Amino acid sequence: MRKKIIAGNWKMNQTPKEAEKFIRDCKEKVKSDKADVVFCVPFVDLAAALDLLKNTGIAVGAQNMHFEDKGAFTGEISGKMLAEMGVQYVINGHSERRQYYAETDQAVNMKVKKALADALIPIVCVGESLEQRKQGVTVDFVRMQVKIAFKDIPAGSARKAVIAYEPIWAIGTGETATSEQAEEVCAAIRQTIAEMYGRETAEVLRVQYGGSVNAESAAELFAMPNIDGGLVGGASLKPEFAAIVQTAGV
Ligand code: PGA
Repeated sequence: MRKKIIAGNWKMNQTPKEAEKFIRDCKEKVKSDKADVVFCVPFVDLAAALDLLKNTGIAVGAQNMHFEDKGAFTGEISGKMLAEMGVQYVINGHSERRQYYAETDQAVNMKVKKALADALIPIVCVGESLEQRKQGVTVDFVRMQVKIAFKDIPAGSARKAVIAYEPIWAIGTGETATSEQAEEVCAAIRQTIAEMYGRETAEVLRVQYGGSVNAESAAELFAMPNIDGGLVGGASLKPEFAAIVQTAGV
C-alpha cells in the first residue's frame, strides 16, 4: 500500500518572515502520521522552514534546482546545495518552469537524474495543455513526458521519485480535473512506469494529482486507486491545507 503524499507548492509566495509566521501557525494542524507532508518553499525560505519543521515529520522541498553541482550559472541553485541544507524534496519540471523559463523535457530529465544522485526526492511534474486535451492527445503527451523525464534512470532510483500529474488548464484556474479525468491519466502514468521498469516499481512509485486541489475536491481525488495524494498550490497557503492533509489520512 502506497503512503499518500501531500505537497504544498508555495510558488513565489511568502517572505522569510511571512513563512516563519505561517509555519508556526499551521504546523501542528498539518502533521500527519498517515500521509507524508511536504512544504515546497522559495529558496530564501528554506532555512526558516527547515529550522521550524525539525522533528515534526513535515518535510521541506525546493521548487527547482540546476542539474550541475556548481559552475557559471548565475542565479541558479544546485541539488547538492539543497541536499546539504537538509532539503528532502525538489519539484522538477513544473509547467510554470516549462512555460516561463523554457525548461525542456531533456532539462527535466537531467534534473531528475541529478536530484536522485543527490539523494533528493524529485516531484516530477507532467501534464497537458487545454489544446492538447481538446485534440485528444493527453495520454500520449503525458506518456512521452514521463518517458523522457526518466530516460536512463535505473529502476532502483526511479521508484523513489514522485510524479505529479498536473493538467495545465487546471493549475490556478479553480477548475479541478474530475476524479475520473485525473485517475485516467494517473493510471496511464503508472502503466508507462510499468512498461519501463516492471510492475513492482510501478506499484511503489507514487503519483499525485495537482491543479486547483481544495478541501472539497481532495477526498474524491485521493480515493482513486492510482492517485497517491496531491501537489497543492493556492490552497497550500491557506488554513484549508490542513483539511486537505487530513483527507489523505482517512
Ligand atoms: P494550484 O497549483 O493548486 O494553485 O492549481 C498547483 C500547482 O501548480 O502545483
